[in-house]
Amino acid sequence: MTNQIHVVGARPNFMKAAPVVSALEKAGERPLLVHTGQHYDRQLSQIFFDELGLPEPEVNLGVGSGSHATQTAALMVALEGLLIEKRPQRVVVYGDVNSTLATAVVAAKLGIPVAHIEAGLRSFDRSMPEEINRLVTDLLADMHFTTSPEAEEHLATEGIGGSSVHFVGNPMIDTLLRFRDRLDIEDVRERYGLTGDYGVCTLHRPSNVDDLSRAGNIVEGLRRVAAKLPILIPLHPRGRDGLTRAGVLDIEGIRVLEPIGYLDFVAVLSGASLVLTDSGGIQEETTVLGVPCLTLRDNTERPITVTMGTNRLVGDDPALIEEAALQSLADPPAGLIPPLWDGEAGARIAAILLPLV
Ligand code: UD1
Repeated sequence: MTNQIHVVGARPNFMKAAPVVSALEKAGERPLLVHTGQHYDRQLSQIFFDELGLPEPEVNLGVGSGSHATQTAALMVALEGLLIEKRPQRVVVYGDVNSTLATAVVAAKLGIPVAHIEAGLRSFDRSMPEEINRLVTDLLADMHFTTSPEAEEHLATEGIGGSSVHFVGNPMIDTLLRFRDRLDIEDVRERYGLTGDYGVCTLHRPSNVDDLSRAGNIVEGLRRVAAKLPILIPLHPRGRDGLTRAGVLDIEGIRVLEPIGYLDFVAVLSGASLVLTDSGGIQEETTVLGVPCLTLRDNTERPITVTMGTNRLVGDDPALIEEAALQSLADPPAGLIPPLWDGEAGARIAAILLPLV
C-alpha cells in the first residue's frame, strides 16, 4: 500500500480524478482524497461525488472563494499543514484550477513529488488564470500525464521532457464513456422541457462574464441564435451578475438555469444540436459526443478539438457567432476521436503511478 494524496477542489477536477482513483482502488490501493473546498455549492461539488461514485474526501479544507491571492494563499496555508501531517510519498493534482497550483507549490517546497494530470495544455494566453496555473504546475511537477500529442511539444519547449512525460489519454473522457450508454436523453428532455431541437450554452470565464463589453457581445450573439434555436443555459454562479446585466434573462428562446449535475448535463449535451461554451472540458466532451461546438473564446488550450473534433473558435463577435451557428446547424462538422480518448486513461495513469510512489 502506498501513501499518495489526490487533491481536488473545483468542479472540473472531479470527473478527471474519478477514473484514476477508481483504477488505483481496483489495484488494491486506498488513495487519500483531499477536497480543498474551492467549490462548495452542492451543484458544483457534492453532486459529482454522489453521481461519479468518488469516495468521500478524507479531508475537506473548506477554503472557499476569494480573490486569486486570497484564495491561493488560504489554499497554501491549509495544504501545508495537511501535507506536513500526512507526509505522502506523492501528491497527484488535476487540471488547472487554483487548487492545482497551490498544491503543486506547497508540495514542491516540502520536497514531495507532484504528478500532474492533464499536463502540457497551453492557450498561450497569460491573461487566463488557468494558463498561469498550468505553467507553474508543470514546472514543479516531476510526472506529467498528457491528454494529446501537442502537450509533449509544449513541455519540451519549456525544458520539461524525457521520462517524466506520459501520453496516457484523457481521464475526463473515461468518465464520459463510462456513463454515455446509460444517459436517458428522453428523461432529461422531459424534465427540462426540451421539445424539438435545442442548443446548450455555458459561460463562466472572467474574460467573458466580467467584461461588460464582451458579455454584451456574446449575449447579442446568443439572442440571434436563439431566434432560430432555443438555448438552455445552466449558469455557473460567477456568470450570473455580468450576464444578467447584459440582458440574458430577457431574451425569448433562452432559458437560464442553476448549474446542473454531471449526468443531467452530459445527457442534455448529447441531445443538443449545438453547444456554445467558454469551458475547456466541454470542448472535449462535445468532440467525443460528435455534437457541434462553438467556443466563445479567441484561443483554446485544447486545439485538438478544433483540428480533429467538432469545435470551432468564434470569439465574441455576434455576427460570427450567428453565422457559425447557422453553418453548424445546416452542415454539422464530422469530427474524429483524438488518440487514446478511449476510456482507459485512468488505468494507464494508475499503472504508471503505482510502481513509482
Ligand atoms: C474555477 C476555475 C476554472 C474552472 C471553473 C469551473 C480557477 C482559477 N478557476 O473557476 O478554471 O473552469 O472553476 O467551475 O481555479 N462560487 C459559488 N459557489 C461555489 C464556488 C464558487 O457561488 O461553490 C462563486 C463565488 O462567487 C466565487 C466565484 O464563483 O467567488 C468564483 O469561484 P472560483 O473557485 O474562484 O473560480 P471559478 O470561476 O469557479
